[in-house]
Amino acid sequence: MFMNQLIPKNYLVASYPNRGISFVEGSGMYLREKSGEKYLDLGSNYGVSIFGYVHPAITKALTNQINSLVSLHGSFNNPLRSEAARELVAKCKGKMSRVFFSNSGAEAIEAALKFACLSTGKQHFIALKNSYHGKTLGALSATSGDKYRHAFEPLVWDFSHLSITDHQLLASAVTENTAAFLLEPVQGEGGIHVFKEADMKFVQKLCDEKNILLIVDEIQTGVGRTGKFLASEHYGLQPDIICLGKGIAGGIPIGVTLVSEEIALKVPVHIHTSTFGGNPLASAGILAVLAEFENTSLLKHITEMGDYFLRELKTIKSNKIKEARGIGLMLALELYENATSTLKALQQNHIIAIPAGSNIVRFLPSYLITKKEIDLLIATLKRIFNYV
Ligand SMILES: Cc1ncc(COP(=O)(O)O)c(C=O)c1O
Repeated sequence: MFMNQLIPKNYLVASYPNRGISFVEGSGMYLREKSGEKYLDLGSNYGVSIFGYVHPAITKALTNQINSLVSLHGSFNNPLRSEAARELVAKCKGKMSRVFFSNSGAEAIEAALKFACLSTGKQHFIALKNSYHGKTLGALSATSGDKYRHAFEPLVWDFSHLSITDHQLLASAVTENTAAFLLEPVQGEGGIHVFKEADMKFVQKLCDEKNILLIVDEIQTGVGRTGKFLASEHYGLQPDIICLGKGIAGGIPIGVTLVSEEIALKVPVHIHTSTFGGNPLASAGILAVLAEFENTSLLKHITEMGDYFLRELKTIKSNKIKEARGIGLMLALELYENATSTLKALQQNHIIAIPAGSNIVRFLPSYLITKKEIDLLIATLKRIFNYV
């Protein structure tokens, strides 16, 4: 994305934008170049490093596990895997009863779609415009937007991508073959869209009345990001399936699909497995991350810092800024122009933020954040936008 010419040709497929920077180390909220230059990471590696880099307790748990047992196929039992599943079920509550582990967010969605199909016998899904659920073929079918889909169409199964505000259209989209409604409680990649409570309540009512499953993609919003363990809790949603990923295993690749008992009982042996799914290293990561939530003031801290962050973002006045919005530590500065030059200017000031779509600067900071880092960002943004 930036300064392409500075990066020598390498052997990687260039499917990622190039930020023109190379990091070799992380510590707390900072990433370091080989030269020792430090950058404040306000994207937490796309929402993964929720407790910062090299968090002492999480690193200790992972290191211990590396020295004990890294990988173990799901056909062999492992106490850490069972414990991680039990803890996740306890944390997500509601209808959640059993867990399927995989290795990425997209895989968590793949499992959710297959389990919904197995339990209903149906293959039509409703998802939302601007939704992002990953890029493997099943998850991509759920993801909206030509940018990602066009080259691969026709995609699998049948997805209707609709607006959450058009209740009539949503209701009429449900057919005899509709298995489930899939949604992110707050859209991330699509531009940090926080929905109205009335719209979320309508989705729940529609699922209840039409007897279709509700699948909630909490891969970005879950695990505390919005100030509750699950963003669904803000709206009183009662999902049948929940997907988690990103930072839930302390930085170890992970996908989690939680399901109700009713759905779990419809999944036959062998039909969906993954060699690395639920490996002891990721399980140790999950337990270490969940242990951090025993600190009862953590969610309060996320909410307070998020409120302060948003309030401060709103104080920046510029004709380039359309809106500052978000919830908890999931925030956006929507611009009237492409976000690249602002991201680049921040990077030149040793601050990392990430894009969402083409014109949004997205912030998904680590939960370690304090007012000090927020104030530094705001002062830098005010300089960038000539508002000092
Ligand atoms: C809401 C949501 N769902 C699914 C995914 C896909 O996760 P992964 O990139 O781990 O496959 C993401 C990734 O950003 C996401 O934000």
